[in-house]
Amino acid sequence: MDEQGHGGGRLTSGGFEARSFDRSVRALVVGATGGIGSALVEQLLESSSVSTVFAGGRHLDRVRGRWPEQERDGRVRPVELDVASEASVERAATQVGAETDRLDLIINATGLLHAQHVHPEKRLSQLDPETLLQSFRINSVGPLLVAKHFVGLLPRREHSVFASLSARVGSIGDNRLGGWYSYRSSKAALNMLTRSLAVELARSRPGCLCVVLHPGTVDTGLSEPFQSGVAAQKLFSPERAAAQLLAVMDGLGEGDSGKFFAWDGEEIAW
Ligand SMILES: NC(=O)c1ccc[n+]([C@@H]2O[C@H](COP(=O)([O-])OP(=O)(O)OC[C@H]3O[C@@H](n4cnc5c(N)ncnc54)[C@H](OP(=O)(O)O)[C@@H]3O)[C@@H](O)[C@H]2O)c1
Repeated sequence: MDEQGHGGGRLTSGGFEARSFDRSVRALVVGATGGIGSALVEQLLESSSVSTVFAGGRHLDRVRGRWPEQERDGRVRPVELDVASEASVERAATQVGAETDRLDLIINATGLLHAQHVHPEKRLSQLDPETLLQSFRINSVGPLLVAKHFVGLLPRREHSVFASLSARVGSIGDNRLGGWYSYRSSKAALNMLTRSLAVELARSRPGCLCVVLHPGTVDTGLSEPFQSGVAAQKLFSPERAAAQLLAVMDGLGEGDSGKFFAWDGEEIAW
């Protein structure tokens, strides 16, 4: 990060330049069917610095055929990966490991805020233990399982990035409104798990920068029911959010591992 906290001033340059990497980038995006995840895959594919994108999704049929041209020439490799199942994550890692001996960039873009029987709580009386546990399973445990099974593919010494999408509402210090017990606490747990992971990776893979990122409020299915109070200029398109996040990832440098950054490169307090 530069002194303003911005990712090397690349926010307006357009396209992922992968300047921090000294080789063509092989990336894994988990949650490639999501609003932000699919935009990340697209932007990575637009970059001439990226050779391969492994696109992970829990339903393979929703990933296959999404990027037909790049899939035909092998630049996109669909991978079935359900972060709620360790067996699935392990199988996915075995598949990817059979297709490449190295990953340079791993992005967890999965997440759960609401679903058919999952609604963010406004008050304690709405707390459902199953929702709380499901949120932890997807938002906290899932990204760590990806780390457990995929970090072996990151280079030991050279620069690499392991990033998970968190949310500012997972900051404990920033919590003044309350509510959203399950989502907030599962993102806070993700932040802590990532911090521990960064400490361990600093010893075993010192070139790996391991961070959590807040994408801003992004116009996706996840935020759709909660967009009414958001000013238009503060609601990012998935394309813009992906470009901003990639710029932050590309701007990471020494001392940035184990930290929590917003879409503009600003460091967020835990
Ligand atoms: N949108 C925002 O305003 C906003 C704000 C702050 C933080 N974030 C964070 O950004 C990340 C991406 O959010 P988004 O807005 O892109 O949401 P989204 O469009 O709902 O995408 C969520 C993704 O997570 C995947 N997913 C859910 N459960 C999974 C599982 N068990 N295994 C594998 N994949 C699973 C979904 O797969 P399916 O397609 O199969 O359902 C989908 O690809 C999340 O971590 C979210 O918390 C978003």
